Amino acid sequence: MIDPAARAADAVSETRLWDRLMRLAQIGAIPGDGVNRPCLSPGDREARRLVMAWARAAGATVSVDAAANLFLRREGADPTLAPVLTGSHMDSQPEGGRFDGIYGVLAGLEALSALDDAGLATQRAIEVVAWTNEEGGRFAPGCMGSMAWSGHAPLSTWDEVADQSGVTFGAALAEHLALETDLPQRALGGRPHAYLEAHIEQGPLLEAAGLDIGVVTGIQGSRWFSVTVNGASAHAGTAPVGLRRDAVQDMIRAINALNAMMHDPADVLRFTVARIDVTPNTSNSVAGRARFTIDLRHPDAAVLKQKGDAIEAVVRGALKTCTAVIAEHFTADPIGFDPSVVETVAQAAAACGFSALRLPSGAFHDAQFLVSVCPTGMIFIPSRDGVSHNPAEYSSPRQVAAGARVLARSLIALAG
Ligand code: GLV
Ligand code: MN
Ligand code: MN
Repeated sequence: MIDPAARAADAVSETRLWDRLMRLAQIGAIPGDGVNRPCLSPGDREARRLVMAWARAAGATVSVDAAANLFLRREGADPTLAPVLTGSHMDSQPEGGRFDGIYGVLAGLEALSALDDAGLATQRAIEVVAWTNEEGGRFAPGCMGSMAWSGHAPLSTWDEVADQSGVTFGAALAEHLALETDLPQRALGGRPHAYLEAHIEQGPLLEAAGLDIGVVTGIQGSRWFSVTVNGASAHAGTAPVGLRRDAVQDMIRAINALNAMMHDPADVLRFTVARIDVTPNTSNSVAGRARFTIDLRHPDAAVLKQKGDAIEAVVRGALKTCTAVIAEHFTADPIGFDPSVVETVAQAAAACGFSALRLPSGAFHDAQFLVSVCPTGMIFIPSRDGVSHNPAEYSSPRQVAAGARVLARSLIALAG
């Protein structure tokens, strides 16, 4: 008799998984094969409903919590045991791809279907979760659903965070939940037996090495800041340059000084300024205010602390005429995954006959916040050209199926 884990891996359907990924990619499709599916948008709702329908058709039960995290449960032989949790997120970047996040949710659903098709029961229930707002593209920061669920911060922390059109996260969440009152509700939080998230690598390492699977060992730390530079708006034609308090010019000085401070010859540190809002944002008014974001990442907690803590003084030291307000919005400490979950994934990849590499994640993930709750790990599949947060993001049908096979095998090992 073929062992059950092998049967589950073999039962993963490359066609079903690929077709579902492509179907989901139609919701919020943008030119160039990309996806724009903001958190708690109509597209997010449509995507969730479709995934729920597929899950119900596979016999799973659906529930949602106060953060709109969505759970799809395949019951275990012993319902009193803590479940094994797997999943990822369904929201995308504004110019995102077809795989970031949604892959982990659909790979989890595929694993449930594979268990069904192979006629296998597990001791523990397996739950597939879609965490709310992992990207932080509409409402910053990301990982709100998993942070609230894991007790990292109260859900109300982000009530007043507004999107570009002034809609707050609190209002969008309330509106969304009001449309989900037909769904069974569950408490926010839990103690799963383990959490395992499948995701695209979003970097170049697996492809460059010609490997099938990434066995993820941990995630580097991230800190997000906003810097608001306050000056005074003035007439571009009449205000003498020497008398101006030009927020854009001081912002440029601040960013230049930060670039110098963050320079890392080894190119391990990641420092990104990617969003700039200027007021009044006209060609012929000197800017009265400029706001920019900072995304800082490093695998070493000490470096992350030292560089992040230095931001305020560097910005203030660079300003010539303006003042600044600096705030930190997001802190995700560098984490290492549970060695036993890492080993489970490595063994599952080997048993499937896939080549694999142990590697850390440069991107943050909901898994970062599950580490404090239960043994946690991740599975990566290769990303073409290492491209992500871009419509060109791509992994092949064979690659997405390979990750789901390793996931199915690992879930059997974890759920018994
Ligand atoms: C996740 O999307 C990240 O920015 O790492
Ligand atoms: Mn993601
Ligand atoms: Mn992402």
